[in-house]
Amino acid sequence: MASQNYHEPVLAAETTSLLVTRPGIYIDGTLGGGGHSLELLKLLDGLDGESLLVGIDQDSHALEAAAEKLRDFGDKAVLLRGNFSMVRELLEPVMRGAGAGMEVMGLLLDLGVSSFQIDTPVRGFSYLRDGPLDMRMNPDGPLTAADVVNGYEEQALSRLFFRYGEEPQSGRIARAIVSARQSAPITTTGALAEVVRQASSRKDSPIKTLSRIYQALRIEVNDELGVLEQALEDGFSVLSPGGRFAVISYHSLEDRIVKRFFSARCSADWGPKGLPLREPLKPAEAELVTRKPVQAGDDETGRNPRARSARLRVIQKLES
Ligand SMILES: C[S@@+](CC[C@H](N)C(=O)[O-])C[C@H]1O[C@@H](n2cnc3c(N)ncnc32)[C@H](O)[C@@H]1O
Repeated sequence: MASQNYHEPVLAAETTSLLVTRPGIYIDGTLGGGGHSLELLKLLDGLDGESLLVGIDQDSHALEAAAEKLRDFGDKAVLLRGNFSMVRELLEPVMRGAGAGMEVMGLLLDLGVSSFQIDTPVRGFSYLRDGPLDMRMNPDGPLTAADVVNGYEEQALSRLFFRYGEEPQSGRIARAIVSARQSAPITTTGALAEVVRQASSRKDSPIKTLSRIYQALRIEVNDELGVLEQALEDGFSVLSPGGRFAVISYHSLEDRIVKRFFSARCSADWGPKGLPLREPLKPAEAELVTRKPVQAGDDETGRNPRARSARLRVIQKLES
């Protein structure tokens, strides 16, 4: 598999410089084609001290592409297949095998799908390329987009498009899907796109409607918001004091979850107002490294349009 064009890493320089503080174990929970991991390994290689990169992805194609890209680093990179919501379990054997005293100093999540996944018609992520209605990031996952589109009741579809796509015409589109599937199941990305196009009102851009509907289905198929919440909790728990957690998100639903989680970890809990406490019920556990999300500059968005919606947030676990 050609790894060069697999995926162009977003905010690569900013992410590596904000994530790495000292040698240690760094986890890339969304390995993809290994673009961020490569930059991390190059930076870690120049530091005085032992480091290890642990790359995780649920897609076996990503692991193949990344293995090729990171080949020169040999056993400095350990690549694992799995869901990043299982980071604690995935990390256990690595920690047992790592040198004594090695600590987890950084964790990166670069959310969503890779360009390779979107651009491969057979994966069924894109309304621009006809293919089976699949959308599973883990090709062995239990639920496909076709199962959702043909199996969910109208109300459930409408709720899904509204919650995960923030789609104003959710009811109308759900109705059109249910009506279309009565003649024959909708099994391709092209057929679904046609139903959505026909159902959308002319006032709204069809491309925007299509992106919102496809986003909603992708989130549902991969339980993206559920696994993100789990990964934030467990990811933070595996970090050593002083370790950093960086997340790049691409839409407001996931950015909101990351922002809330980070600010909760960075604030002390003084309980209800008016309690005469001398110490907080729970002290802050981390501090913000980025007060506002870091966004790509014109240079990068010109080269890579995908970078336009990227938001990078970083926190650091407190030492005490
Ligand atoms: C945006 S791409 C990452 C690209 C990568 N940073 C690079 O430079 O090539 C996201 C990757 O994360 C993977 N992924 C998304 N959600 C995941 C999850 N819950 N567990 C494991 N991998 C996941 C996808 O399969 C995809 O390969």
